Amino acid sequence: MTHPTDFPSGELEWQDGQPFSRRFGDVFFSRDSGIAETQHVFLAGNALRERWGSLAPGAQFVVAETGFGTGLNFLCAWALWDETAPPEARLHFVSIEAYPLARDELVRALALWPQLATYRDALAARWEAFAPGWHRVAFASGRVILTLLVGDIAAVLPKVEAVVDAWFLDGFTPARNPDMWSPAALAHLAHLSHPGTTFATYTAASEVRRHLEAAGFAVRKESGFGRKREMLAGTLHARAAPPWQAPWFTRPAPHTRERRAIVVGGGPAGAASAASLAARGWGVEVLERRDDNGPVAAAKHQGVLYAHPSPHPTALNELALAGLQYTAHALRAGRVPDARDFDLCGVLQLACDEHEAKRQAGVAALALPRALLRPVDHGEATAIAGLDVPQGGLFYPAAGWVHPPALCAALLDHPGIRVRSAHDALEITRNGTQWTVRNGSSIVAEAPVVVIAGGADSAGFPQTRHLPLRTIRGQITLVPATAASAALRTVLCGEGYVAPARGGVHSLGATHKFRDRETDVRAGEHAENLERLGRLAPALHAALGADRLDPVTLAGLAGLRCSSPDYLPVIGPVVDAASFMQVYARLSRDATLALREPAPWLDGLYVNTAHGSRGLITAPLSGELLAAYLDGEPSPLPVSVAEALHPSRFLLRALIRRRTPDVNPA
Ligand SMILES: Cc1cc2nc3c(=O)[nH]c(=O)nc-3n(C[C@H](O)[C@H](O)[C@H](O)COP(=O)(O)OP(=O)(O)OC[C@H]3O[C@@H](n4cnc5c(N)ncnc54)[C@H](O)[C@@H]3O)c2cc1C
Ligand SMILES: C[S@@+](CC[C@H](N)C(=O)[O-])C[C@H]1O[C@@H](n2cnc3c(N)ncnc32)[C@H](O)[C@@H]1O
Repeated sequence: MTHPTDFPSGELEWQDGQPFSRRFGDVFFSRDSGIAETQHVFLAGNALRERWGSLAPGAQFVVAETGFGTGLNFLCAWALWDETAPPEARLHFVSIEAYPLARDELVRALALWPQLATYRDALAARWEAFAPGWHRVAFASGRVILTLLVGDIAAVLPKVEAVVDAWFLDGFTPARNPDMWSPAALAHLAHLSHPGTTFATYTAASEVRRHLEAAGFAVRKESGFGRKREMLAGTLHARAAPPWQAPWFTRPAPHTRERRAIVVGGGPAGAASAASLAARGWGVEVLERRDDNGPVAAAKHQGVLYAHPSPHPTALNELALAGLQYTAHALRAGRVPDARDFDLCGVLQLACDEHEAKRQAGVAALALPRALLRPVDHGEATAIAGLDVPQGGLFYPAAGWVHPPALCAALLDHPGIRVRSAHDALEITRNGTQWTVRNGSSIVAEAPVVVIAGGADSAGFPQTRHLPLRTIRGQITLVPATAASAALRTVLCGEGYVAPARGGVHSLGATHKFRDRETDVRAGEHAENLERLGRLAPALHAALGADRLDPVTLAGLAGLRCSSPDYLPVIGPVVDAASFMQVYARLSRDATLALREPAPWLDGLYVNTAHGSRGLITAPLSGELLAAYLDGEPSPLPVSVAEALHPSRFLLRALIRRRTPDVNPA
């Protein structure tokens, strides 16, 4: 099974060294000079040089494009941004593309412009086989952020959450590529714009003009580039009423006051929240109950980058795949500086029983890029693993493992972040425009924004008691490597997991214990982990001499996972639960009511938790989602996924099911 991005797509023809689409029978850019065309049509057509030259220092600007193609427009915009925008400003480039090019094709097309070589190399280094879905890639330490939306425009556009400042309309010629210029698509542009948003396009087609005018854009004809006499450009003057949006999910107004935040919790979710905010110029204080020198920081354990998608297109799937690619990208780009703290050695998910084999067949049928995952038979699985495994499965070549404390430390390593360990946040109260965090009678910190990322303890505050969080205890066993176990070359997963050794020790995980909040390390659970390894990989079990290991003397680590009833993380703004139940009480009589009352937000209070067993892939991206809420940026995830993660979903379900929401004990 292959995917168009794995190999040269076969869609391209090279005519005089320039890419030509066989599928659409059209060129990607003008044969006269693609780069000059981009500069004339898209950059000048949107007056970007003038607009970017007058931006305020910390400003952000959002360009959205229909048709990423070779990325030429992106690179030209980036180069102009470098030339004209203030150093602290941030460019968001959101681009929709149904058929991403293979890396070689992209590089070959962009090689036509040596003046863009530095930008091209940066893009090529991060360009991979992008699966259908949302992909966020940060360049130049986050000064330029690409959000690539892989999918058909008709399906993708309605799921975009962004306020766009300038549009590049760059489908193939309307006669050959009508989907990119459909009335519905052009009308939707206005919903993602504000009065003053501009657009530019190389085409002067009269139906494009009509549809844009109908959407509320004032359209003018300008002189076209090269052989094209005319092109269109314009500005949104009057926005038609946007379609109704559920007010309980509509974003609170972006934070425009003092950019300071307190993050409660220094685990992966707290560290990622702090990192994404600090990268945007926020000052962040992270309060972490644990002492820096505690046992967790010292442990040698490895956490697996483990997506475990289902054959169905669920929100969890979209999040897991986007998260896996985001974390793996970040590691490849050197986010964790010490190469001994992670290894993208691949993850082999063995089809360890009939149920799992059936599930895997369904996942394989999704035809995701082979560079992301591919089915492997017993022989190939054994070759990949480096020692005999009992069956085949799914192989994720770009996944692997990371040492969680190293990931957290790397995320927290920013001059804008101050970590205060051994600081317990016990109480949070609103005091005018600030939140005050107290521990007993002493004030620990104050700031206008608080992000609660306390894992399983996130529902311990009166403001978050309505979140139905659950805890699942887990224990990892650390097993000394042997000469024979060094043969293991990839992470093996089944019922449990085992990774190639880090510092002479293999991590063997992990147990699942419900209704148990203790974190002591137990010999019984070491025995369980060893037994599971025996079933997962008997050859490795033997190579480790696991039969002779005494569980009582083994080292390990126990902790609590936090999960939610629908197994999705909980990320976003927090409401006053009692007011919410009153404001939307009518939903319990009729769940279809299109109510308009705004949600009773607790101004500046956010939560980021319930990452379950996959926090190492979901947490890094969660910081970007949180920052998108606070800074009013384009969402890194489809709106349907952001809603599936929204903290208010449980209150909403309680209303609709006419139940009193569960409340955690005070
Ligand atoms: C045994 C085990 C094995 C695992 N293996 C994997 C794996 O292989 N791959 C994977 O992706 N995930 C794995 N996980 C899950 C992963 O660890 C979690 O998803 C992840 O840690 C969640 O991050 P978090 O920041 O939300 O929560 P946590 O990591 O729990 O961090 C929350 C932090 O907040 C602090 N805190 C809480 N309340 C307060 C307060 N009031 N004041 C100050 N500080 C506070 C806590 O001390 C803690 O440090 C495993 C979990 C366990 C227990
Ligand atoms: C003219 S090219 C874009 C050129 C590009 N902006 C550049 O800088 O190279 C048009 C792009 O639109 C994409 N496309 C065509 N139909 C699409 C659809 N229905 N949804 C999303 N993308 C589509 C094509 O795959 C192609 O890459």
